[in-house]
Amino acid sequence: MCGIVGYIGRREATPILIQGLKRLEYRGYDSFGIATVGSSIEVFKKQGRISESEAGAVSLAGCIGIGHTRWATHGEPNDINAHPHIDCRGGVAVVHNGVIENFTELKRQLIERGHTFRSDTDTEVIAHLIEEHHHGDLLEAVRATVPHLRGSYALLAVAAHDRRIVAARDCSPLVLGIGDSELFAASDMTPLLDHTERVVFLEDGDIADISADGVEIYHQGEKVQRPVELIDWCVEDARKGGFAHYMLKEIFEQPQAFYETIRAGVDETVRNLVLSADEVTLVACGTSYHTALIFKYLAESLCRIPVRVELASEFKYYTPPISGLAVAVTQSGETADTIAALKMAKAHNCITLAITNVQGSTITRVTDGTLLMRAGPEIGVAATKSYIAQLAALMQLINIRCGGVFDEVLSHAHLAIGEVLMRDIQDAVALCRGAEHIFFVGRGPFYPVSLEGALKMKEISYVHAEGYAAGELKHGPFALLTPVTPVVAICPPGSTYGVMVSNIKEIKARRAPIIALGVDGDSELAEIVDIFIPLPDTHLLVQVLTSSVVLQLLAYRTACALQRDIDRPRNLAKSVTVE
Ligand code: G6P
Repeated sequence: MCGIVGYIGRREATPILIQGLKRLEYRGYDSFGIATVGSSIEVFKKQGRISESEAGAVSLAGCIGIGHTRWATHGEPNDINAHPHIDCRGGVAVVHNGVIENFTELKRQLIERGHTFRSDTDTEVIAHLIEEHHHGDLLEAVRATVPHLRGSYALLAVAAHDRRIVAARDCSPLVLGIGDSELFAASDMTPLLDHTERVVFLEDGDIADISADGVEIYHQGEKVQRPVELIDWCVEDARKGGFAHYMLKEIFEQPQAFYETIRAGVDETVRNLVLSADEVTLVACGTSYHTALIFKYLAESLCRIPVRVELASEFKYYTPPISGLAVAVTQSGETADTIAALKMAKAHNCITLAITNVQGSTITRVTDGTLLMRAGPEIGVAATKSYIAQLAALMQLINIRCGGVFDEVLSHAHLAIGEVLMRDIQDAVALCRGAEHIFFVGRGPFYPVSLEGALKMKEISYVHAEGYAAGELKHGPFALLTPVTPVVAICPPGSTYGVMVSNIKEIKARRAPIIALGVDGDSELAEIVDIFIPLPDTHLLVQVLTSSVVLQLLAYRTACALQRDIDRPRNLAKSVTVE
């Protein structure tokens, strides 16, 4: 939620900041703004999306600047609440990602001391606190300010007449890019890819003093060294590459995301964690929660290991008795609830593992081991290739526990994913685009696949969709079935096939139109449903992947038909760094 970017060097800051904010827009797109530093601070900020604005015409002068793209938490999205925020005299500007939990109290105190507030945001208190502590040295002012802040923050501050940016982080991500006599700061690596591959990940509690010549980092008052790491993403990965939307590009990148994640394998630490676990708890949110549920079905049935899966946002307030291995599944590695849940598991003496797509992300600093997915940067808000790469990572863990019996299956699965990318689903799209409600049903691992299918549909097409375990449909939702309520049923061969066919017939008897996903050549199923979408007749693990991809395409094509904003669905953000 919210993206921040900073630049200091020899070039004009404005175009670099604007380009950086466009790359970060997937983190929030209610408003945007930049500030540059010279003898005074100049600010431009505006409600709306930077990609749809005349931002190219903004020409604030200066080689030092900070920028922000917002996902509103405190204060409605408008020009005034857009960041950067300045102090009373306009001598300090701040951009911030996170939530200052004690801002009401701080604001009251600051107003009592004579400060004038312009916005409704929590962030503005930071600018005024820095103002109070600023006696010519911005670093000292930020150092004196952060102990007053409760909550989460990644912030960048600049001051007039001061040729530096001061950055601080606690529980929100911040990464620095090291260029040639120039430095960058950003919420994640995507804006840095255009300029450098050398990055420094700040730790919670770090304060960085950034100048064009270098950076000095302080932690609890002491100067510290943080390693310079090399990013292995390339700039092309973060571009649309001729596709209409990032989401479509990312759907089409899934064979590679799966293959690369399998190819990268699992290091010895993670292998040992998995082999020694006698029970596993997974914590996750959103799409990642669905991959965790799929893991539960597969791991419990294939490796006979007890697995529990918890919504991270619930887990923090209800901690069941757990032990063994706790796994955080999070593509961004920055989801606040998932990080909090994992810390809770750690406090219960669990050994911890992160499955994430982002090298150096916060979660990797908390856990005992990390299994890095190889999806590359995912820009579309709706998770697609990160979902498939998560499944690749989780299926590898199952394979390890099963002594490698799925080596062959996993090494070829990407081919089947590639095969379904071109499936003709136009009839299914025509049915879904006219619907107000859609049900997705499946059994076993295909139940979480149906949850994910429904999530994809609602988040990008805005059509109300529910995922259900097929057997549960008659415990309530049957009352909603009508001839205009499509039901998407995932019905591959196997132990649940017979009962799924019975369920489909029951649905049919209520005259709801059925779109069924089954294996190629299943004429029995094709005959009883309205629309049949064939999947390659392969291993169960692979059918989990192929059916998921078809449901992503169904959501995507339906959203296109309804002319939705695919990559930036309303009210959503890709990385949810607030609870
Ligand atoms: C947001 C995103 C989802 C994602 C969820 C969890 O809601 O829009 O696509 O599944 O966060 O994110 P994580 O980075 O922890 O997987």
